[in-house]
Amino acid sequence: EGEVYKYYAEGEWRKSSSGKSVPIINPTTRKPEYKVQACTQEEVNKVMEGAKEAQKAWARTPLWKRAELLHRAAAILKDNKGPIAECLVKEIAKPAKDAVTEVVRSGDLVSYTAEEGVRILGEGKFLVSDSFPGNERSKYCLTSKIPLGVVLAIPPFNYPVNLAVSKIGPALIAGNALVLKPPTQGAVAALHMVHCFHLAGFPKGLIGCITGKGSEIGDFLTMHPGVNCISFTGGDTGIAISKKAGMIPLQMELGGKDACIILEDADLDLVAANIVKGGFSYSGQRCTAVKVVLVMESVADAVVDKVKAKVEKLTVGPPEEDCDVTPVVTESSANFIEGLVMDAKEKGATFCQEYRREGNLIWPLLLDHVRPDMRIAWEEPFGPVLPVIRISSVEEGIHHCNASNFGLQGCVFTRDINKAIMISDAMETGTVQINSAPARGPDHFPFQGLKESGIGSQGITNSINMMTKIKSTVINLP
Ligand code: G3P
Repeated sequence: EGEVYKYYAEGEWRKSSSGKSVPIINPTTRKPEYKVQACTQEEVNKVMEGAKEAQKAWARTPLWKRAELLHRAAAILKDNKGPIAECLVKEIAKPAKDAVTEVVRSGDLVSYTAEEGVRILGEGKFLVSDSFPGNERSKYCLTSKIPLGVVLAIPPFNYPVNLAVSKIGPALIAGNALVLKPPTQGAVAALHMVHCFHLAGFPKGLIGCITGKGSEIGDFLTMHPGVNCISFTGGDTGIAISKKAGMIPLQMELGGKDACIILEDADLDLVAANIVKGGFSYSGQRCTAVKVVLVMESVADAVVDKVKAKVEKLTVGPPEEDCDVTPVVTESSANFIEGLVMDAKEKGATFCQEYRREGNLIWPLLLDHVRPDMRIAWEEPFGPVLPVIRISSVEEGIHHCNASNFGLQGCVFTRDINKAIMISDAMETGTVQINSAPARGPDHFPFQGLKESGIGSQGITNSINMMTKIKSTVINLP
């Protein structure tokens, strides 16, 4: 009791000199569960200096040795899935089983990253000059991928472990140092995860983990001259970060309004199963959750009925009991969701279930007959409430999808593969899933958003490439 989790700097666990801490509120009990250090700007400076120093030697550490350490960290992470998952349950109310899955998936991601890194960083290019007009074969160009320096990783609350290692793994295998700023909700799970990397034996200073209030150290971190790359996943803070950041590569994933377009010939049972899983798993708190259903009028009643029947079967309650729908992360998030629901109610949406909320727990809600003048048609609730818009043509569905400020993923349900591909081509999103709900994984698939959903592409291979730069050496023959 009263323990404040330490932050990680120069290979050791430290207390902040601020003497202050940040409480982490359990979304279920709404009482403080843990505390983490409120780090100061001087402490950020120290971590940055340590990272910069350690990175020099790390870049010269053989690739196979870097991979070996990552494999070791992955194994330790998986061995400790129990206690880490417990933090996820208490900090972000992730259902117990999903919490364990997140940690295991993270271990697998780190191992895969080590393997992928060994392959793609083990190869360079060799070019000759006489392919370009006017040149003799007098220049040989050798290129390879070298690290950027210090990568700043800022993951979101919904995957504090998985979306941290999806940045840490690629950064480290490519020879970078890594500074992590975990989300407040999920910080303790992230600190436990960092401890697994500590136990694996990475060099002192190479990995740092700073905790504290975004309002106090956020800008200081993201605008720090020691940072050579930022990989961020989260909300529209990312837009502010990209405006303020220096001339460094940015990888940003900032949410979405993933549309689910349903044609008349779709397999409606498959549709219903995917809407429920895609819309309500982890209470809709996923960037890739189904966030608007666009269904052809002729099958809309049938789809709504099937979804309603499945929603009735969802269990609602605490994450410890592995309920399907659990409390959303904060009270302010619950209030925001409620605001969208009330706006839709005033404007005449049909509620397929009664709206019910206790504390941060919001019961799953399907809103039928949603129209474009309702906020929920466009805004991202990040909660278990899902709007259905009835459309009279496929074009109308595509138009709604493309009128969004977001462009992360989308999905289309039809048995006609030609139509599916044409619709996929027309949808302005980073990915379109045919006959399945949107999802980021498997974690080696490219993952990217258009428009306000982000910049750059993630996925293991793309992240490794993004966290390197090309170095050429040209041999000039006499
Ligand atoms: O919300 C974060 C986003 O990356 C979702 O990932 O695995 O739930 O599709 P996933």
